[in-house]
Amino acid sequence: MPAFNDRSIGHIVILTGAGVSAESGLATFRDAGGLWENHDPMEIATPEAFARDPALVYRFYNARREKLDEVTPNDAHRAIARLQREFAGEVFLVTQNVDDLHERGGSDQVCHMHGELRQVLCEACGGRHIPAGAYNQETPCPGCHVRGGLRPDVVWFGEMPYHMDCIEAQLSACDLFIAVGTSGQVYPAAGFVRQASAFGAQTMAINREPSDNSSWFGHHRQGLATEQLGQLVEELLAGG
Ligand code: APR
Repeated sequence: MPAFNDRSIGHIVILTGAGVSAESGLATFRDAGGLWENHDPMEIATPEAFARDPALVYRFYNARREKLDEVTPNDAHRAIARLQREFAGEVFLVTQNVDDLHERGGSDQVCHMHGELRQVLCEACGGRHIPAGAYNQETPCPGCHVRGGLRPDVVWFGEMPYHMDCIEAQLSACDLFIAVGTSGQVYPAAGFVRQASAFGAQTMAINREPSDNSSWFGHHRQGLATEQLGQLVEELLAGG
Protein backbone atom coordinates (compact mmCIF):
# COMPACT_ATOMS: atom_id res chain seq x y z
CA MET A 1 0.00 0.00 0.00
CA PRO A 2 1.23 3.57 -0.55
CA ALA A 3 2.86 5.04 2.53
CA PHE A 4 -0.44 6.36 3.79
CA ASN A 5 -1.96 3.72 6.04
CA ASP A 6 -3.79 0.44 5.66
CA ARG A 7 -7.09 1.80 4.23
CA SER A 8 -7.61 1.01 0.54
CA ILE A 9 -7.44 3.87 -1.95
CA GLY A 10 -10.24 3.63 -4.51
CA HIS A 11 -11.02 7.25 -5.41
CA ILE A 12 -8.33 9.86 -5.94
CA VAL A 13 -8.65 13.61 -6.54
CA ILE A 14 -5.56 15.38 -7.87
CA LEU A 15 -5.29 19.18 -7.84
CA THR A 16 -2.49 20.67 -9.91
CA GLY A 17 -0.99 24.14 -10.00
CA ALA A 18 1.58 26.00 -12.06
CA GLY A 19 4.43 23.96 -10.55
CA VAL A 20 3.32 20.97 -12.64
CA SER A 21 3.97 22.91 -15.86
CA ALA A 22 7.14 24.65 -14.62
CA GLU A 23 9.46 21.90 -15.91
CA SER A 24 7.89 22.34 -19.34
CA GLY A 25 9.11 25.92 -19.35
CA LEU A 26 5.90 27.75 -18.40
CA ALA A 27 6.44 30.41 -15.75
CA THR A 28 4.62 29.94 -12.47
CA PHE A 29 2.95 32.93 -10.83
CA ARG A 30 4.71 33.47 -7.52
CA ASP A 31 8.16 31.96 -7.91
CA ALA A 32 11.17 34.12 -8.74
CA GLY A 33 10.64 35.25 -12.33
CA GLY A 34 6.97 34.33 -12.11
CA LEU A 35 4.20 36.04 -14.02
CA TRP A 36 3.13 38.14 -11.07
CA GLU A 37 6.70 39.38 -10.60
CA ASN A 38 6.41 41.33 -13.85
CA HIS A 39 2.67 42.07 -13.84
CA ASP A 40 0.30 43.29 -11.18
CA PRO A 41 -2.55 40.74 -11.32
CA MET A 42 -5.00 43.48 -10.37
CA GLU A 43 -3.95 45.35 -13.50
CA ILE A 44 -4.27 42.40 -15.82
CA ALA A 45 -6.36 39.54 -14.43
CA THR A 46 -9.63 41.13 -13.28
CA PRO A 47 -12.81 42.18 -15.12
CA GLU A 48 -12.07 45.78 -14.07
CA ALA A 49 -8.58 45.59 -15.61
CA PHE A 50 -10.11 44.32 -18.86
CA ALA A 51 -12.62 47.16 -18.92
CA ARG A 52 -9.89 49.69 -18.09
CA ASP A 53 -7.25 48.57 -20.59
CA PRO A 54 -8.43 45.74 -22.86
CA ALA A 55 -5.42 46.09 -25.17
CA LEU A 56 -3.03 45.32 -22.27
CA VAL A 57 -5.07 42.28 -21.26
CA TYR A 58 -5.30 40.99 -24.84
CA ARG A 59 -1.51 41.40 -25.21
CA PHE A 60 -0.82 39.50 -21.97
CA TYR A 61 -3.08 36.55 -22.78
CA ASN A 62 -2.16 36.38 -26.47
CA ALA A 63 1.52 36.21 -25.47
CA ARG A 64 0.83 33.40 -22.98
CA ARG A 65 -1.25 31.62 -25.60
CA GLU A 66 1.55 31.80 -28.18
CA LYS A 67 3.98 30.37 -25.59
CA LEU A 68 1.87 27.19 -25.45
CA ASP A 69 3.07 26.31 -28.95
CA GLU A 70 6.69 26.41 -27.73
CA VAL A 71 6.34 24.00 -24.80
CA THR A 72 5.57 20.30 -24.41
CA PRO A 73 4.19 18.18 -21.56
CA ASN A 74 6.61 16.83 -18.96
CA ASP A 75 6.84 13.62 -16.94
CA ALA A 76 4.50 15.03 -14.30
CA HIS A 77 1.69 15.39 -16.85
CA ARG A 78 2.47 11.94 -18.21
CA ALA A 79 2.50 10.36 -14.73
CA ILE A 80 -0.96 11.75 -13.96
CA ALA A 81 -2.27 10.56 -17.34
CA ARG A 82 -0.84 7.09 -16.63
CA LEU A 83 -2.58 7.00 -13.25
CA GLN A 84 -5.87 8.00 -14.90
CA ARG A 85 -5.41 5.25 -17.50
CA GLU A 86 -4.18 2.40 -15.31
CA PHE A 87 -5.57 2.95 -11.81
CA ALA A 88 -8.35 0.48 -11.02
CA GLY A 89 -10.44 3.05 -9.15
CA GLU A 90 -11.50 6.61 -10.01
CA VAL A 91 -9.05 9.46 -10.60
CA PHE A 92 -10.44 13.01 -10.90
CA LEU A 93 -8.00 15.64 -12.15
CA VAL A 94 -8.78 19.28 -11.37
CA THR A 95 -6.28 21.91 -12.42
CA GLN A 96 -5.81 25.57 -11.67
CA ASN A 97 -3.70 25.75 -14.80
CA VAL A 98 -5.08 27.22 -18.00
CA ASP A 99 -2.52 25.54 -20.25
CA ASP A 100 -3.34 22.41 -22.29
CA LEU A 101 -0.37 20.32 -21.15
CA HIS A 102 -2.45 17.79 -19.20
CA GLU A 103 -4.41 17.02 -22.35
CA ARG A 104 -1.28 16.90 -24.50
CA GLY A 105 0.34 14.71 -21.83
CA GLY A 106 -2.40 12.11 -22.30
CA SER A 107 -5.15 13.06 -19.85
CA ASP A 108 -8.65 12.66 -21.35
CA GLN A 109 -10.47 14.05 -18.30
CA VAL A 110 -9.26 17.46 -17.09
CA CYS A 111 -11.39 19.82 -14.99
CA HIS A 112 -10.14 23.35 -15.71
CA MET A 113 -11.45 25.31 -12.73
CA HIS A 114 -9.72 28.50 -13.93
CA GLY A 115 -10.60 28.11 -17.60
CA GLU A 116 -8.47 27.46 -20.67
CA LEU A 117 -6.00 29.82 -22.26
CA ARG A 118 -6.50 28.52 -25.80
CA GLN A 119 -10.23 29.33 -25.66
CA VAL A 120 -12.03 32.64 -25.91
CA LEU A 121 -15.43 33.42 -24.45
CA CYS A 122 -17.79 35.69 -26.36
CA GLU A 123 -19.57 38.05 -23.97
CA ALA A 124 -22.15 38.76 -26.67
CA CYS A 125 -23.37 35.19 -27.29
CA GLY A 126 -21.72 33.17 -24.50
CA GLY A 127 -20.04 30.94 -27.07
CA ARG A 128 -16.58 29.44 -26.50
CA HIS A 129 -14.19 29.16 -29.43
CA ILE A 130 -10.53 28.46 -30.21
CA PRO A 131 -9.31 31.27 -32.47
CA ALA A 132 -6.54 30.38 -34.93
CA GLY A 133 -4.21 33.09 -33.70
CA ALA A 134 -4.11 36.28 -31.65
CA TYR A 135 -7.40 38.05 -31.10
CA ASN A 136 -8.54 41.44 -29.83
CA GLN A 137 -11.52 43.77 -29.70
CA GLU A 138 -11.68 43.89 -33.51
CA THR A 139 -11.86 40.10 -33.87
CA PRO A 140 -15.42 38.98 -34.70
CA CYS A 141 -16.82 36.12 -32.68
CA PRO A 142 -16.61 32.92 -34.78
CA GLY A 143 -20.14 32.15 -33.63
CA CYS A 144 -22.23 35.31 -33.60
CA HIS A 145 -19.76 37.43 -35.62
CA VAL A 146 -20.14 40.34 -33.17
CA ARG A 147 -16.94 42.36 -32.68
CA GLY A 148 -15.72 43.53 -29.27
CA GLY A 149 -17.12 40.64 -27.25
CA LEU A 150 -14.21 38.20 -27.15
CA ARG A 151 -12.31 37.77 -23.84
CA PRO A 152 -9.88 35.10 -22.62
CA ASP A 153 -11.84 32.09 -21.30
CA VAL A 154 -9.85 32.40 -18.06
CA VAL A 155 -11.33 32.94 -14.58
CA TRP A 156 -10.09 36.27 -13.25
CA PHE A 157 -9.68 37.37 -9.64
CA GLY A 158 -13.11 38.17 -8.28
CA GLU A 159 -14.86 35.70 -10.60
CA MET A 160 -16.27 32.31 -9.61
CA PRO A 161 -14.15 29.32 -10.69
CA TYR A 162 -15.80 26.85 -13.06
CA HIS A 163 -17.23 23.42 -12.16
CA MET A 164 -17.32 23.98 -8.39
CA ASP A 165 -20.35 21.69 -7.84
CA CYS A 166 -18.57 18.83 -9.56
CA ILE A 167 -15.32 19.49 -7.69
CA GLU A 168 -17.04 19.60 -4.31
CA ALA A 169 -18.84 16.34 -5.04
CA GLN A 170 -15.49 14.74 -5.82
CA LEU A 171 -13.86 16.12 -2.66
CA SER A 172 -16.66 14.67 -0.54
CA ALA A 173 -16.23 11.20 -2.03
CA CYS A 174 -12.48 10.71 -2.46
CA ASP A 175 -10.20 8.51 -0.34
CA LEU A 176 -7.05 10.41 -1.27
CA PHE A 177 -6.55 14.09 -2.15
CA ILE A 178 -3.22 15.05 -3.73
CA ALA A 179 -2.14 18.66 -4.43
CA VAL A 180 0.84 19.10 -6.74
CA GLY A 181 2.78 22.23 -7.64
CA THR A 182 0.61 24.85 -6.02
CA SER A 183 1.52 27.51 -3.46
CA GLY A 184 -1.82 27.08 -1.68
CA GLN A 185 -2.44 30.82 -1.68
CA VAL A 186 -5.54 31.13 -3.87
CA TYR A 187 -9.02 30.05 -2.82
CA PRO A 188 -11.17 28.07 -3.23
CA ALA A 189 -8.46 25.63 -4.45
CA ALA A 190 -6.26 26.21 -1.37
CA GLY A 191 -9.14 25.02 0.82
CA PHE A 192 -9.87 21.79 -1.07
CA VAL A 193 -7.54 19.84 1.25
CA ARG A 194 -9.67 20.80 4.26
CA GLN A 195 -12.89 19.81 2.50
CA ALA A 196 -11.44 16.42 1.52
CA SER A 197 -10.05 15.86 5.03
CA ALA A 198 -13.42 16.71 6.57
CA PHE A 199 -14.91 13.84 4.58
CA GLY A 200 -12.22 11.44 5.78
CA ALA A 201 -9.82 11.51 2.85
CA GLN A 202 -6.10 11.10 3.28
CA THR A 203 -4.16 14.06 1.92
CA MET A 204 -0.77 14.57 0.31
CA ALA A 205 1.08 17.69 -0.82
CA ILE A 206 3.80 17.36 -3.47
CA ASN A 207 5.73 20.58 -3.95
CA ARG A 208 9.21 21.89 -4.55
CA GLU A 209 8.97 23.75 -1.24
CA PRO A 210 6.33 23.78 1.51
CA SER A 211 3.13 25.53 0.37
CA ASP A 212 1.22 28.08 2.44
CA ASN A 213 -1.40 25.49 3.41
CA SER A 214 1.16 22.73 3.95
CA SER A 215 0.16 22.14 7.58
CA TRP A 216 -3.32 21.02 6.46
CA PHE A 217 -1.94 17.98 4.65
CA GLY A 218 -1.38 14.60 6.32
CA HIS A 219 1.48 13.60 4.02
CA HIS A 220 4.16 15.63 2.25
CA ARG A 221 6.67 14.87 -0.46
CA GLN A 222 9.05 17.69 -1.22
CA GLY A 223 10.72 17.79 -4.60
CA LEU A 224 10.13 18.20 -8.32
CA ALA A 225 6.73 17.18 -9.62
CA THR A 226 8.30 15.13 -12.42
CA GLU A 227 10.23 13.00 -9.94
CA GLN A 228 7.78 12.80 -7.04
CA LEU A 229 4.70 12.08 -9.15
CA GLY A 230 6.39 9.31 -11.13
CA GLN A 231 7.31 7.55 -7.88
CA LEU A 232 3.90 8.08 -6.28
CA VAL A 233 2.06 6.73 -9.33
CA GLU A 234 4.22 3.60 -9.25
CA GLU A 235 3.25 3.12 -5.59
CA LEU A 236 -0.45 3.71 -6.20
CA LEU A 237 -0.54 1.36 -9.19
CA ALA A 238 1.36 -1.30 -7.27
CA GLY A 239 -1.19 -0.94 -4.49
CA GLY A 240 1.47 0.04 -2.01
N1 APR B 1 7.80 20.78 -8.97
C1 APR B 1 6.98 20.95 -7.90
N2 APR B 1 6.57 22.16 -7.45
C2 APR B 1 7.01 23.24 -8.12
C3 APR B 1 7.87 23.15 -9.23
C4 APR B 1 8.26 21.86 -9.66
N3 APR B 1 9.07 21.68 -10.72
N4 APR B 1 8.13 24.42 -9.67
C5 APR B 1 7.46 25.25 -8.85
N5 APR B 1 6.79 24.55 -7.92
C6 APR B 1 5.90 25.06 -6.88
C7 APR B 1 6.36 26.33 -6.22
O1 APR B 1 7.16 26.03 -5.09
C8 APR B 1 5.03 26.97 -5.81
O2 APR B 1 4.67 26.56 -4.51
O3 APR B 1 4.69 25.37 -7.51
C9 APR B 1 4.03 26.41 -6.80
C10 APR B 1 3.52 27.44 -7.81
O4 APR B 1 2.79 28.39 -7.08
P1 APR B 1 2.09 29.60 -7.84
O5 APR B 1 3.06 30.23 -8.75
O6 APR B 1 1.41 30.42 -6.79
O7 APR B 1 0.99 28.91 -8.78
P2 APR B 1 -0.42 28.34 -8.36
O8 APR B 1 -0.41 27.83 -6.94
O9 APR B 1 -0.83 27.39 -9.41
O10 APR B 1 -1.36 29.65 -8.43
C11 APR B 1 -2.74 29.44 -8.21
O11 APR B 1 -3.13 31.79 -8.66
O12 APR B 1 -2.73 33.67 -9.89
C12 APR B 1 -3.61 32.64 -9.71
O13 APR B 1 -5.08 31.80 -11.32
C13 APR B 1 -3.74 31.79 -10.94
O14 APR B 1 -4.14 29.41 -11.08
C14 APR B 1 -3.32 30.40 -10.49
C15 APR B 1 -3.52 30.47 -8.99
